[in-house]
Amino acid sequence: MKYVFGNWKMNLGIRESVALARGVARSLRGKESVPEVAVFPAFTALSEVHKALSRSRVQLGAQNIGVEKSGAYTGEVSSSMLEDVGCSYALIGHSERRWKFAESDELIADRLKACLASKVTPVLCVGESVAEREDGSHEEFVTGQMKSALSDIDVSNASDLIVAYEPVWAIGTGETATVAQVVEMHTHIRSTLQSILEMNAEEFSILYGGSVNPENAYELLREREIGGVLVGGASLKIHAFQDILEAATEVITAQGA
Ligand code: PGA
Repeated sequence: MKYVFGNWKMNLGIRESVALARGVARSLRGKESVPEVAVFPAFTALSEVHKALSRSRVQLGAQNIGVEKSGAYTGEVSSSMLEDVGCSYALIGHSERRWKFAESDELIADRLKACLASKVTPVLCVGESVAEREDGSHEEFVTGQMKSALSDIDVSNASDLIVAYEPVWAIGTGETATVAQVVEMHTHIRSTLQSILEMNAEEFSILYGGSVNPENAYELLREREIGGVLVGGASLKIHAFQDILEAATEVITAQGA
């Protein structure tokens, strides 16, 4: 199985979101082998996008998830609210949350715990910045992010966890990590999952994100170690996103995956 997720970030009003979601749904229609596709609109558009996707194979995701179920937490949206609006997935610890909104490792760990306790599948985002990549401490840095997020979770809930490796230097920059860099880090993430969770990490899906586009999607997706892609900028343009979906479909057909 391959995943193709579109993170729309803080873009698009309700009407535009619905139109884009319909376009995504249309591009899967009638196809036999398709990737698991989800779109992550702004919170304000979730409800209408859910309706627009109701008879499609496209899933809905949220860009963040609250720690508590309800109460005095101004600005937060809880896991039960996300279930209520039809979300199957939630991003947790996206680098923009970590760096632009100072979300700490502790907060991200709490969000992950809340998500794992709900029906929403977490997509835990990790990734080093350019400084760690340049001084060679990128693997150690990502291990630290994973340890703090995962060390206190209930392992029996963890089987559907998805990890997205998104190096900060590749997000929105047009600079994609090389396939070799991605495969190396994914292998490292998988062995880290194995040692932290003490479970067979073969089945976990690890996605790559960071300037994924129609030109590089195929070479990334055809790697068995790369379970899918988390697409930002290119997911806002229907033709670019359709081309990425097409690349995933080709890989699935060729590999019988
Ligand atoms: P990008 O964003 O594809 O625009 O680099 C990826 C992401 O932030 O998830």
